[in-house]
Amino acid sequence: MNLAVFASGNGSNFSAIVKEIKQGKIKVKLLILVCDKPEAFVVKRALRHKIKVVLARREDFRSKTDFEAAIIQRLKTYKIDLIVLAGFMRLLSPTFVKQYRNRIMNIHPSLLPAFKGAHAIKDVFDNKAGSTGVTVHFVDEKVDHGPVILQGKIEIRSNDTLVGLGKRIHALEHKLYPQAIKLFVSGRIGAKAP
Ligand code: GRF
Repeated sequence: MNLAVFASGNGSNFSAIVKEIKQGKIKVKLLILVCDKPEAFVVKRALRHKIKVVLARREDFRSKTDFEAAIIQRLKTYKIDLIVLAGFMRLLSPTFVKQYRNRIMNIHPSLLPAFKGAHAIKDVFDNKAGSTGVTVHFVDEKVDHGPVILQGKIEIRSNDTLVGLGKRIHALEHKLYPQAIKLFVSGRIGAKAP
């Protein structure tokens, strides 16, 4: 089974996934990192692990359709079965989602449907919510939406700081995302390649 990770930023989830694959805990080949930001730290992480980086900058294409078509072409070349979005800061079009229905996962730092959006951890913290968590879900046509695969809960402490809460959320992400990928690999969830 072949995996592609899509990321735009730091890549701590990418590294957590790589670690479990290298330890033989997930029977999957991580063939490519797809990244839209050449300067992102995740690119360095991938190169360090000798994982091929497919750079696709939206600015280099006339339209979103062309941008996605170029990515899909690479996914086909590598016969990718599962796409894992790990901090990929672009919305995939309905056409893209349709081609990989139930074969694209996303991780989000809240208990969806609560606190969608790009600043979920800060929003949770600012709203003084009593608890929060992490959601791994299949991607559908709506933002931060789609069938939930796994969720983990985190209690917010009265003396929590935004940084401290963020660290605990990321630590939980690094456990849940590999687990979700294992579920897919075992065939218990998701769709098979057509
Ligand atoms: C994570 O918090 C994830 O939930 C969100 O983007 C962040 C990516 O972090 N979708 P990293 O780049 O994996 O460190």
